[in-house]
Amino acid sequence: MTLPAQVKIVEVGPRDGLQSETAVSTAAKIALVEALAMAGLGYIETGAFVSPKWVPQMADSGAVFGGIQRQAGVTYAALTPNLQGFSAAMAAGADEVAIFAAASEAFSQRNINCSIAASFDRFAPVIAAARARNIRVRGYISCVLGCPYQGEVSQQQVVQVAAQLSAMGCYEISLGDTIGVGTPLQAQRMLGAVAEQVPIQQLALHFHNTYGQALANIAACLDLGASTIDSAVAGLGGCPYAKGASGNVATEDVLYLLQGLGIETGVDLAAVIDAGAAICSHLAHGPRSNVALAELAKRNRSS
Ligand code: HMG
Ligand code: MG
Repeated sequence: MTLPAQVKIVEVGPRDGLQSETAVSTAAKIALVEALAMAGLGYIETGAFVSPKWVPQMADSGAVFGGIQRQAGVTYAALTPNLQGFSAAMAAGADEVAIFAAASEAFSQRNINCSIAASFDRFAPVIAAARARNIRVRGYISCVLGCPYQGEVSQQQVVQVAAQLSAMGCYEISLGDTIGVGTPLQAQRMLGAVAEQVPIQQLALHFHNTYGQALANIAACLDLGASTIDSAVAGLGGCPYAKGASGNVATEDVLYLLQGLGIETGVDLAAVIDAGAAICSHLAHGPRSNVALAELAKRNRSS
């Protein structure tokens, strides 16, 4: 067992979470991002510069970036599928960007309207433009443990896409179980295979919790030395291109797990619970985090 001493949390709630929730106001999004930063989260995916026809919930990302009071040392990142998105992200003041590919042809077509090969042609100018401005680029891979359209996804395909994103210049590759179907042994095998091509320090776990396995999968991958975890406050969201997929693993649940393992994150769990409760007051549901629900119930009993 090679548990990492420290783990970096990539908070994706304001983007991955809110892109699939009923629209909330720009002011509520700004308050959420600010609360997450105050809780000690050092990396916040704040919005997406994608087509508003495809994902209307992210149409105000420019206004969100423009409205936040920034904390020193926090990275405010954006999703950018193409050069148009990259330019908009730069105009909005994003610190970093992420491109997103898939390990499944069918998902690539539905999500970004092109083949995997064509997606790399779109990413190349984004990476070149980012390099020219000294902006770091993160790379996502969707469907690493299964696809909503084609079912099984070959591990070889995941490895190939990861190696290509890394070779193109992505400093980190986030491995997405988009529909949350994976189980621990499968997650470990996938991570192990990718880590033979891309150093594990450059890999992130991005697990949705549809089948309730995300935390178990993360625990299994921590054993292999994974040290970057994507999560969403209150377990917000889903994926607009994966019907029935639920949100990312909840940040509160990940923090509790890591605390129990003695792994440092520098994040204040109670403050993240507050941020999750606050954003859920704008939604038709409460936090989808067992830890948040337990702690909020405890607070109610003692007040
Ligand atoms: P397209 O239709 O193939 O692109 O979309 P196009 O270049 O032909 O442009 C068509 C129209 O879109 C034009 O507008 C463009 O201006 C506009 P029109 O002339 O028709 O009025 N357009 C844009 N508008 C704003 N921002 C842009 C942009 N680009 C073009 N950047 C495109 C291609 C990729 C843009 C489209 O398919 C798209 O936006 N898809 C949305 C994908 C998305 O946001 N998915 C959810 C995020 S990914 C995810 O959640 C998975 C992840 O979490 C990991 C995991 O869990 O697996 C990351
Ligand atoms: Mg996702």
